[in-house]
Amino acid sequence: TSVKQFQHDLLTWFKGNQRDLPWRQDQDPYKVWVSEIMLQQTRVDTVIPFFNRFLEKFPTIEALAIAEEGDVLKAWEGLGYYSRARNLQAAVREVHEQYNGVVPNSKAEISKLRGVGPYTSGAILSIAYGKPEPAVDGNVMRVISRIVASYDDISKQKTRVKIEGIISTLISVEDPSSFNQGLMELGALICTPTSPACSICPIQKHCKAFEEKVQLELPVKAKK
Ligand code: ADE
Repeated sequence: TSVKQFQHDLLTWFKGNQRDLPWRQDQDPYKVWVSEIMLQQTRVDTVIPFFNRFLEKFPTIEALAIAEEGDVLKAWEGLGYYSRARNLQAAVREVHEQYNGVVPNSKAEISKLRGVGPYTSGAILSIAYGKPEPAVDGNVMRVISRIVASYDDISKQKTRVKIEGIISTLISVEDPSSFNQGLMELGALICTPTSPACSICPIQKHCKAFEEKVQLELPVKAKK
């Protein structure tokens, strides 16, 4: 099985099976950014109504940049982890002031923004700007650990970097957005932590963990 075949199988499945989520309506970098920050510690089903309300209140970089912090925190109420909201607004103000309201499209620039780590920068660059950058969250670490049957400890930063390297060799340069979101969606819908649906998995034939029947042992996570 080849990289091309893997890409084709993942992308075809994603295109036919992805959930209709509000942040998938367009590729506005601001909307992608807000959604990815909300999704970091909060489940998709919980995020949906908050995302919609937040975007009604603060539809653009400009609107969020000039908003009162108290109003932003109020819109965040119920999502928790309020530092996410404070960092987001601080970073959006920076984009408003220093980048003329345009979210930067380079890894180096975007990574300087408050609250934007390797995952968020990769998600924005791939989903909004179509750049072939990995976006490795917990779901993606699980999926890749299983595909390559890796027993590396996913709580280690070194493992995330290694997984980014693996994705760099697999990612579709024609459609990095669907490729990354396909991995996320596979982790959410098929390759779940304790009951992966391997029998209906679109990439079963590319999965070393399935071949070796070790999918339930993976990924390894030492730190709690
Ligand atoms: N979790 C994190 N980012 C996501 C996205 N873009 N779609 C679905 N689930 C996600």
